[in-house]
Amino acid sequence: MEQIGEKLFKYKDFIFPLELVTPEHINSLQTFEIRDSDVFLVTYPKSGTIWTQQIIISICELDGGLNEYANNCQQMAWLEYKTKEDLSLRPSPRLFTSHVTPPLMPLGLKDKKTKIIYVMRNPKDVVVSYFHFGKVLTLYETPKSFEDFLEQYLAGNVGGSSWFDHIRAWYLNRDQYNILFLTYEDMILDLKGAVTKICRFLGKNLSDKGIDQVVEKATFKNMKKDSKANYEFILKETISGDFMRKGRIGDWKNMFTVAQSERVDRMLQEKLGDTGLKFIWE
Ligand code: PPS
Repeated sequence: MEQIGEKLFKYKDFIFPLELVTPEHINSLQTFEIRDSDVFLVTYPKSGTIWTQQIIISICELDGGLNEYANNCQQMAWLEYKTKEDLSLRPSPRLFTSHVTPPLMPLGLKDKKTKIIYVMRNPKDVVVSYFHFGKVLTLYETPKSFEDFLEQYLAGNVGGSSWFDHIRAWYLNRDQYNILFLTYEDMILDLKGAVTKICRFLGKNLSDKGIDQVVEKATFKNMKKDSKANYEFILKETISGDFMRKGRIGDWKNMFTVAQSERVDRMLQEKLGDTGLKFIWE
């Protein structure tokens, strides 16, 4: 375990927030028992995690049989964060969220029955969202400047490590899992299409009216007012701003210089060019 700055540490090649994660807990994940009915949402930070949580939870709620929890964070428990609750004792159906990479996930996920939804977002909007988040969340050191934070992000020295490595690891290992890939941008451009895809992947049979209900609950405007979904329940000592900030494609244009943008384009080509993945920038 190697400490990175004041608030992060590296373990098994991945960077975690010190306050929320222990190496022992990360080790224990390997043998965490998986059930066929479990659903996992996996993302790199700031890629649409709490949004997709809201969609998955709303679909499962309408389908019936979901257990009651105080809010979306508890309903879709974060796999790698330490908690007093023993998640192996949770009744089915269980929903989980995670930011980690394939080598750190429970080995049982490779039996290909458990469903994983992986959401990715273009790397420029991710870093802008992350930068603003770093300014309001005590879990991370306050970024000195956008320029400095971008350097750390491109070097993979932030919580979640390298965005490029994260996408690459999940995408290249996709055949080992039962996984649905979605992008934040596709969700913005066609929320109903994304909800329908998630619904089908989860094997849930919602009517068109049901799908519309889920879409309504997941719009930025409605979700921001939804106290179970907007993460305002996170302690005020931990966060002094919004989880739900702008919710748009292309905010990076307000922060990036042309040179910074071209640098990310080059890195994207170098590191992910062979995958054929394409991102939407505006
Ligand atoms: S975290 O901390 O990793 O869980 O953050 P994450 O939820 O992955 O990402 C936060 C960004 O997602 C935006 N968001 C939404 N966009 C559109 N519609 C809805 N309903 C929605 N909910 C959350 C949120 O605003 C953050 O993006 P930015 O660009 O900062 O606004």
